[in-house]
Amino acid sequence: MLWLPLLAVLLPLAALAGERPRTNFLLHCSGCHQPDGSGSAQNGIPNMKDRVGHFLRLPEGRAFLVQVPGTAQSSLGDGETAELLNWMVVALSPHAVPANLLPYTRDEVARLRATPLNDVAAVRASVVGRLQQMGYKIE
Ligand code: HEC
Repeated sequence: MLWLPLLAVLLPLAALAGERPRTNFLLHCSGCHQPDGSGSAQNGIPNMKDRVGHFLRLPEGRAFLVQVPGTAQSSLGDGETAELLNWMVVALSPHAVPANLLPYTRDEVARLRATPLNDVAAVRASVVGRLQQMGYKIE
């Protein structure tokens, strides 16, 4: 496992360069979501490209991005998860970010993570339905 010590050196360096959230996304999320966030419709992985930022327009949508199992159940800490989500919405979805974007904080992530979703699909459908009514393009 030569890459493990290498990673131990590269990750702090990456953080210094502001690259840590991108590296975490590539390591922990992109296997399912693809590096550009486009996902895989036939495998039930939603397309986040220029869409995921819309979720931040509603408090339930903001909570959903933390509570969805891929985020909530990753091995990342609460602070790194907040940093990752703050990076992700802008990097993958630059044209859907609300103007009054408030960054996630570590405490907010910790609080939301402690309340898992019972029915992921139903919560998503309800949030997406409301966003569509508000005129935002998201499927
Ligand atoms: C094993 C595959 C897998 C991994 C790894 C994964 N996800 Fe996901 N993700 C999914 C699936 C499947 C969904 C659809 C909702 C569901 O069924 O959980 C999803 C949905 C999401 C959503 C909601 C997007 C939407 O439009 O509804 C977000 C946000 C998200 N994931 C973030 C992450 C983050 C951040 C990571 C890494 C820390 C991650 N996911 C890792 C499979 C994965």
